[in-house]
Amino acid sequence: MTEPKNLVVIISGNGSNLQSIIDAIESDRINARIRAVISNNDDAYGLVRAQNHGIENTVVNHREFATRDLFDEALLKSVAAYQPDFIVLAGFMRILGSAFIQAYPNKILNIHPSILPNYKGLKTHQRAIDNGETEHGVSIHIVTADLDDGPVLLRGRYPIEENDTVEDLHGKGHRLEHRMFPQLLTWLCNDDLQIDEEAIMFKQQRLQHPLEFDNA
Ligand code: GRF
Repeated sequence: MTEPKNLVVIISGNGSNLQSIIDAIESDRINARIRAVISNNDDAYGLVRAQNHGIENTVVNHREFATRDLFDEALLKSVAAYQPDFIVLAGFMRILGSAFIQAYPNKILNIHPSILPNYKGLKTHQRAIDNGETEHGVSIHIVTADLDDGPVLLRGRYPIEENDTVEDLHGKGHRLEHRMFPQLLTWLCNDDLQIDEEAIMFKQQRLQHPLEFDNA
């Protein structure tokens, strides 16, 4: 077993994905420790989840900064203090600037509620219903300077039934996310998944396409 990886998880709200990661670490599925949870909102419930598990938590409130660059700078300083191996965006609802992203190339992960590259941006469930899609899903990708555009590591899918509402899709998506993030982080923290500027390697093989999560 390699040394546990250091994670910093950045959130904006409820933190149910954070909870799934905490639970997977506590049950020894992910070989990591969460050094800190950072939120841009001081009322994010995810901060309470961190406190409940004795995890350091802090707020960098974007409203206190005149520009996005200044917010990014403060966030970067806060993150860097924890020396993360990986930065996990788990429901972080701000766009990171390129200075932040360049400080951690291939180390920042985001979970997005669609089958990327389809439905980048917000309101993906509503748009999928409006377009008459029969399938929607979740993707975990590496964060690059372009929104929801970095290399996709893992995708999961679920069916859209005839009378499904946005809330139904939220529920299906969240249930999937709570299994996908722990799985992806298990691989990453065991070095089964290795990412550098040359290639993404999964279990010694070069990854040509995103992995498909088995949503059985
Ligand atoms: C998730 O649906 C994720 O796809 C999106 O933000 C949401 C966060 O939910 N990026 P939670 O705060 O983890 O409950």
